[in-house]
Amino acid sequence: MASRVIPVAPFDLVVFGGTGDLAKRKIIPALFRRFVAGQFEEDARIIGAARAALSGAEYRTLAEEALKEFSAEYVENSKEVAAFLHMLDYVSIDATGDGGWEELKAKTSTDRVQAFYFSVAPSLFGALAERLHAYQIAGPEARVVVEKPFGRDQETAKALNATLAEYFDETQIYRIDHYLGKETVQNLMALRFGNMMFEPLWNNHYIDHIQITVAETVGVGGRGAYYDKSGAMRDMVQNHLMQLLCLIAMEPPAIYDADAVRDEKLKVIRALQPVAPHHIVRGQYEATDTAPSYRDDAENPRSFTESFIAMRCEIANWRWAGVPFYLRTGKKLRARSSEIAVVFKALGHSIFEGDTGPHRNILSIRLQPNEGIDMTVTVKEPGPGGMRLIDVPLDLTFAEAMAGTDSPEAYERLIMDVIRGNQTLFMRGDEVEAAWRWTDPLINGWEARNDVPKQYVPGSSGPEDALMLLHRDGRRWRDIKA
Ligand code: BG6
Repeated sequence: MASRVIPVAPFDLVVFGGTGDLAKRKIIPALFRRFVAGQFEEDARIIGAARAALSGAEYRTLAEEALKEFSAEYVENSKEVAAFLHMLDYVSIDATGDGGWEELKAKTSTDRVQAFYFSVAPSLFGALAERLHAYQIAGPEARVVVEKPFGRDQETAKALNATLAEYFDETQIYRIDHYLGKETVQNLMALRFGNMMFEPLWNNHYIDHIQITVAETVGVGGRGAYYDKSGAMRDMVQNHLMQLLCLIAMEPPAIYDADAVRDEKLKVIRALQPVAPHHIVRGQYEATDTAPSYRDDAENPRSFTESFIAMRCEIANWRWAGVPFYLRTGKKLRARSSEIAVVFKALGHSIFEGDTGPHRNILSIRLQPNEGIDMTVTVKEPGPGGMRLIDVPLDLTFAEAMAGTDSPEAYERLIMDVIRGNQTLFMRGDEVEAAWRWTDPLINGWEARNDVPKQYVPGSSGPEDALMLLHRDGRRWRDIKA
């Protein structure tokens, strides 16, 4: 099955922070892969902009080094690499002064699709937006792309939205949450709204609870300084897990378009209930004989920041009243494994004598690795011996089912959506603010109480208390396994 490539119009993409880590690891390799796939022609212009005084040729060397390191498609001296690098240019820019802006203006044209990627600290958004206008670089249709973290609470997010709104209309602003670009995350919508069989069951009559787990094996390593100021709640829950929860819980939008989808997601966030302190477990990984602890990585021996969080959430609406949503994410856990599990209610009565039930159907959507969907169903154990029932998985691993399909990675899809002008997979300003409105009191609560995160053993499933969160409700977490 070959993937379908729909070419995009010629564009100018300016990457502020073009020499930074994200540009090197994600943006440049993503663009290269889309170019190799034939999604855009050699008339595209990709302009790195940063403080460093580099020539265009030096920037192309930097980009080639990035491809070598981060792109599986890189082939030395290939025609494709040469053609791709040929599209790249560079401007040394002073974000808060006047240096470089006239030069940038000369390199882009308002006659083409223009996208400005702010891969810089949010404190620079205002200065960049102001100059793009003052120097008349950005045309009326220009798009601006911003990364998370989008603020650190509702107030700062509001301020950022207000700053961007001074210069750009909401339809021009693309707030990235790269989880929305993941193939399986979109499949979640296909699964829910493209099949007859799930929607009638998708409510509190049939669903017992939902688990969302995003487990990582990496620690905070070199990002300790940033991470210690945010923690798992701000780094993962407020954005990635919240987006997953929205897609699972939202009402069917009338059509699959940006505002219809985002309106429905917003309603879910607004219906999220405050979470009681005893429904939140925060943790920090300990040291091992060979690896540092979270506090060592964060270089903060008295840090109270969480590298793990588990919580029990509730959505107060007709569909979900009474159905707990258990969220869990953390660093240095047993395996890299992200999964959404929809656990159906147990059968009320079994007609099979001696059946040791209860049996439950579990629909699990595996985001990574081994993307796929698996459904636990109850069947008869093969062979003689009466009606003995067992629960077995019906497994659809995408890699097997869609063999040969080359699905783009999150950043590839998202950047091409920016060029196409499709905002469906980006967060709207009100969505981000609403998400903070829900997380702020929880964070303020544990800060005011001086709650100390529980320690957990690296390579485990997190602190013991996280297990209790479900045990108390007579439930158990799914195993974290790759
Ligand atoms: C980022 C977080 O947004 O997502 C990181 O800042 C995290 O802390 C990463 O490791 C996880 O992304 P993925 O795509 O590897 O699951």
